[in-house]
Amino acid sequence: MASKKTDDEPLQTRQHNDEAPLSIVLRDFVNMKNNRRATVMTRFTVVLYMCCSILVYLAFSKGHAESCYGFCDKLTTTSRFSSSPSDSGDELREKQPLPSFANGGIIFWLHVPKTGGVTIRKALQRGNGQYLLADDRRKFDEHKKALAKYLKYGTDGQVVVFELHAYDSPPLFEMRERLHRWREIAERSNVPFFAFTVLREPVSFALSFFNFFHGMDHGDEHFEYYETANEFDLLNHAVVNPQCGFLVQGDVIFHNKMAQQTVVLPLCKAAYETLWEEMDWVGTTASLSNETFPLLRSIVKSSRTNGDANHLLAQNIRHRNKSPDKVTRSDLGPRSIDQIRMMTRWDQTMYYNAQRDFPFDKMQLVEDQKPPQRSTGRRRPL
Ligand SMILES: *[C@@H]1O[C@H](CO)[C@@H](O)[C@H](O)[C@H]1NC(C)=O
Repeated sequence: MASKKTDDEPLQTRQHNDEAPLSIVLRDFVNMKNNRRATVMTRFTVVLYMCCSILVYLAFSKGHAESCYGFCDKLTTTSRFSSSPSDSGDELREKQPLPSFANGGIIFWLHVPKTGGVTIRKALQRGNGQYLLADDRRKFDEHKKALAKYLKYGTDGQVVVFELHAYDSPPLFEMRERLHRWREIAERSNVPFFAFTVLREPVSFALSFFNFFHGMDHGDEHFEYYETANEFDLLNHAVVNPQCGFLVQGDVIFHNKMAQQTVVLPLCKAAYETLWEEMDWVGTTASLSNETFPLLRSIVKSSRTNGDANHLLAQNIRHRNKSPDKVTRSDLGPRSIDQIRMMTRWDQTMYYNAQRDFPFDKMQLVEDQKPPQRSTGRRRPL
């Protein structure tokens, strides 16, 4: 009976221009006839359901899909990441001569946490020269200005070390273009530039990670402290592909499960690709003293300001930052080891690839490089 009237009412309310659109919609809705209201409700439910489905699909597919969301330009289609460790062939690098720092030069080091970095830092800091430690964003911004000058005008015979220890500084992924530019500038201005990083075997990384973040009381709400701990505590806090995650996202990855979810395989591939392109050397924690330190020593020694750089001799290296061994390798049963390996498959691949792509015996120490003029002299035919 009053139906005509109620149908007209919404029209009148629409004339109140100053009313909020939501209240108009609500009033329209309340004034509807029952059957129309039901139809609108049904449609609304259907739309809501579709939206939810799409969201759920996106959320779940993101973890598995090999597609990229907004990162496509950064991804490359190389198969270097997935080829087996024994595949080498023509991909293998030629003998890589280390740069001579006779007139100074710059060492850039990307410090991946829990890879023996504090040992490296303490050792390098014992040399003469400049040590630019960028372990937070403010210092990063400050040191990057200093570095820009060294890149352009040289280092006046000094060894300049720039350590990027992300905390809240940019991760490798964000650094990619900058690093590339730094190298180009250095090349143009004839300043020797050597970039390196160190990765760690994933199970060893997981142990070190737990013992440091959870075995020591840092008073950090992100990391639960354990007075005593067992393998299950470790598994409980183990991070999925932490090293790849760190390169892609920075150390937010260590305590943020949501951030961990965003590290998909193509991003790991791209991170490794960046290492391949921008690093002169990717070492391992296990071979610090017989590979990375000898390389660093050869470079530092070649500068006229560092004598024979004996502080970088293996026997003079003191191992630092030893966390308490709350959980050790022998505490891990085979199942736990399997589980860690499953969680760190891409880190594992990266680790093997680094050993394949940066073989120590292909690196040529500065002192082993013959000055070119002398060798041509010897070869001159009679
Ligand atoms: C250095 O030591 C590691 C671990 O003991 C070993 O795997 C690697 O082959 C060694 N490297 C060289 C060049 O001897």
